[in-house]
Amino acid sequence: MSAEAKQNTITIDGQEILFRQGQTIMDAALAAGVYIPHLCHKPGLAPHGSCKLCTVNIQDRNVSSSPSDRRVQTKFFVDIDSRSVSACTMPAVAGQHISNNTPELNEVRKTITQMLFIEGNHLCPSCEKTGDCTLQAVAYHLGMLDGHFPQFFPRREVDASHSSVMLDRDRCILCELCVRASREVDGKNVFAIAGRGINAHLIVNSPSGKLADSGLETGDMAAHICPVGAILIKEHGYEVPIGRRTFDLHQVGEIGLEKVILAKTRHTDE
Ligand code: SF4
Ligand code: FES
Repeated sequence: MSAEAKQNTITIDGQEILFRQGQTIMDAALAAGVYIPHLCHKPGLAPHGSCKLCTVNIQDRNVSSSPSDRRVQTKFFVDIDSRSVSACTMPAVAGQHISNNTPELNEVRKTITQMLFIEGNHLCPSCEKTGDCTLQAVAYHLGMLDGHFPQFFPRREVDASHSSVMLDRDRCILCELCVRASREVDGKNVFAIAGRGINAHLIVNSPSGKLADSGLETGDMAAHICPVGAILIKEHGYEVPIGRRTFDLHQVGEIGLEKVILAKTRHTDE
């Protein structure tokens, strides 16, 4: 590798990866075919940094830990000399040594995924997104066998007012992909998040607060980008047979699955 190329190189799990100036660690990893688990990231939309599934550790070579730190490190398997960052928001900087696919990080990611499952009503056997759902696929990828925590069983409003799109807030993971897609791509600003903490919820920017009174159309990216079964096109559920759904045929770690999922779940009025 030339000296110039070295200047634009990061290392992920020991693999050297070239990056372009301005790319995040996530951008560089995906471009090199390296999977970093993620739910709120979509290439082309502004990074959001909310799901924390893409948490990686960056080795800081300049920090040397004390002997007592070392004891903590050994006891709790914590790497004192590294810091945890979101790969989707952290710029790639030459020389970074990044840990991604480690048992410790994947265990934390599994816990985050379990929390997402129990906070909503993700009852996969009765959800038409099953097999095409990124949350479900990430849970399989991380070896999640149960929810671990007590279920919340929320009762949030379902909006079925629109003639061809429905919104089930009980399955919303607040990734804001629909918010960003509507604002940045569709130019409509149909969705937003209101409330804080456990009361945070997706709202519709229309006079009545209903989808029917919004400008949302089935051709909009916001109508198709939801990684779970919260925003669905009506009257197309269960069209793909078991065995041919996205994650029957693909691993969630395959790069560029967006187009595959879209081909199976995109429906327009035409
Ligand atoms: S409706 Fe879907 S895309 Fe929108 S914030 Fe909720 S989970 Fe994300
Ligand atoms: S992908 Fe969600 S925080 Fe990075």
